Amino acid sequence: MQASIEEIHSTALSEIETAQDAETLKALATRYLGRKGRLTQFLRDIAKLPPQERPAAGRQANTVKRELEKRFAEALAQAENHAAAHGEDAIDVSLPGRPARVGSLHPVTQVNQQICGIFSKLGFDIAEGPEVETDYYNFEALNFPPHHPARDMQDTFFVSDGIVLRTHTSPLQVRVMEKTAPPVKTIAPGKVYRCDSDLTHTPMFHQVEGLLVDEGISFGDLKGTLTAFIHRFFDERIRLRFRPSFFPFTEPSAEVDILCVICRGSGCRVCSHTGWLEILGAGMVHPAVFENVGYDTSRYTGFAFGVGVERLAMLKHGIDDIRRFFESDMRFLSQF
Ligand code: PHE
Repeated sequence: MQASIEEIHSTALSEIETAQDAETLKALATRYLGRKGRLTQFLRDIAKLPPQERPAAGRQANTVKRELEKRFAEALAQAENHAAAHGEDAIDVSLPGRPARVGSLHPVTQVNQQICGIFSKLGFDIAEGPEVETDYYNFEALNFPPHHPARDMQDTFFVSDGIVLRTHTSPLQVRVMEKTAPPVKTIAPGKVYRCDSDLTHTPMFHQVEGLLVDEGISFGDLKGTLTAFIHRFFDERIRLRFRPSFFPFTEPSAEVDILCVICRGSGCRVCSHTGWLEILGAGMVHPAVFENVGYDTSRYTGFAFGVGVERLAMLKHGIDDIRRFFESDMRFLSQF
C-alpha cells in the first residue's frame, strides 16, 4: 500500500480548501472518489491486507470516504452560489424589472361580444354549430336547389362530396329549428369561409345570425329589431335604410345600409361615392325553410338576418383594410 488513509484524508481536505471554483472541485472529486481515484484505489487494495487487518482498515476508509463526499458537495454548492452572485451571469438586483404587458381581446372578439351582448339584452338565446357543414344545412335546407345559380354567390370551399366549409351562419337557422318548437329567438355567432380575398374580403370571417319565429311576426318587427340594434351598436343618430334584395331562404329579402360613417352621406372612397354602406342581409323566413323543419307555415312567421362582424368592426373603428385583423401585428392590435 503506497499511502496511508490519513495522508489521503488530509491532502484531500487541504486541496478542497484551496480550490477556487466549481470546475476545480469537480476534477478533484474525480481524483479522489472517481473510479480510478486515490480513495477508490485504497479501498480496493484492502483486499490484499492480511485478513485480520481488513475490517478495521475498511471501516476507517469508508468513514473517510463519506466525509470527503460530504465536504465536496458542500464546497461545490458554495462555489456555485458564489458564481451566481458574482460571476459573469450574475443577476444584478439593482436593474429595473421588465414589465409584463397586459394583453387585450382581439377587436373582432370585442365586436362579436358587443353584438351578442345587445341581442342578449333583447332576449335572444345564443346557439353554435359546426364550421364543417353538410351541403344539406348550408344550402339545400335553406332552399338552394342543387344547381341553383344562387349558390354561385357563396364562393364555397368544398371539403369532399356533400361536405363544405359553411359559407354563412344561416345553417344554424335550420339546426336550431329542428331542435326547438316555436317560438324561437336565437342568435348564432361564428366563423364562416368563402374563397375570396381583397381589401374587404378574407377567406375566413365572422357572422352573427339572428332568427325570430312566432305567431304574427311581421317585416315591421324585423325593421324595429335591427334599427334598435344598429342604434345601440353605433349611436342613436345613425340613419339606416332597407333595400330590396334576394336570398333563397328569405322572402321578402333586404339588405340594410347605414349612412356612411366616414363621409356622412356626401360620398367617399369607402362607400364608393354612394353615401351608404351595406352592413347586413335579412328577410322574412321563406315558407320552404319552415317546411323543411316541420314548422306550421299557416301559423308561424319569422325573420332572420346575418351580420358581418369584421364589417361592423371596420366601420366602428375606421379601419380600411379587413386583412389587418388577421396579421397579428401588435402595433395594430394593441390599439383596441
Ligand atoms: N346568410 C346570408 C349571407 O351570408 C345573410 C342572411 C342571413 C340573409 C339571414 C338573410 C337572412 O349572405
